[in-house]
Amino acid sequence: MTESRRDFLKATALTTAGAALGLGFDAAADDKLTAASRLTDAQGQYALPPLPYDYKALEPVIDETTVRLHHDVHHKAYVDGANNALKQLAAARADGNFALVKHWSRELAFHGSGHVLHTLYWTSLTPSPGGEPKGDLSKAIAADFGDLAKLKAHLTKATVAVEASGWGVLAYQALDRRLTVLQAEKHQDLTVWGATPLLVIDVWEHAYYLKYQSKRADYVAAVWDILDWTAAGLRFEAARSAAR
Ligand SMILES: [Fe+2]
Repeated sequence: MTESRRDFLKATALTTAGAALGLGFDAAADDKLTAASRLTDAQGQYALPPLPYDYKALEPVIDETTVRLHHDVHHKAYVDGANNALKQLAAARADGNFALVKHWSRELAFHGSGHVLHTLYWTSLTPSPGGEPKGDLSKAIAADFGDLAKLKAHLTKATVAVEASGWGVLAYQALDRRLTVLQAEKHQDLTVWGATPLLVIDVWEHAYYLKYQSKRADYVAAVWDILDWTAAGLRFEAARSAAR
């Protein structure tokens, strides 16, 4: 790993309630991707990162209106919700009144996870896909799933089958050093402690309904054409390094 990449990965490490996620990109990738991976601003508040591409850059797979609403309205709401939960929990500590600690803990888990997952989502997609997974990620996919086709079948089926709203997730489980496919209901349920997401697919209806209506499977199938395996490979590299 080059020094610049190590610095980059360190600078862009994501941390949220109960989860530490490595998110990084090749040093050759542009600064937009670095900015797009930051969860917080200079003051340490959660902040909405800019998209690493234009609103219409993912067309025809995902239309401009969907991306605009999804990023500017939905993702922003999770940022605001996470900041509010932190503020309310700080107030509870200040006055010693923890009567609503369960509520605000749940709010932090929901909105904080929503912020992390959407940040990962925008950087799991690219208008310039570089083809199939490469390097160590490709080897790990072969070892843990058989081959890319089997991973694709597994991740696609798991994502389409998410009950109600949620996510399909390719993750690295550091505890047993293996790749795994997860479903996340809402943003925070059915996840596994210790798993670092490498690539996520949003299947809340706001991610696809304007264009695909009830055809979630068509959306998931199309998204495979714009997955950023370079970003996933770098997150894998960071997660494995952290596990050593
Ligand atoms: Fe979403």
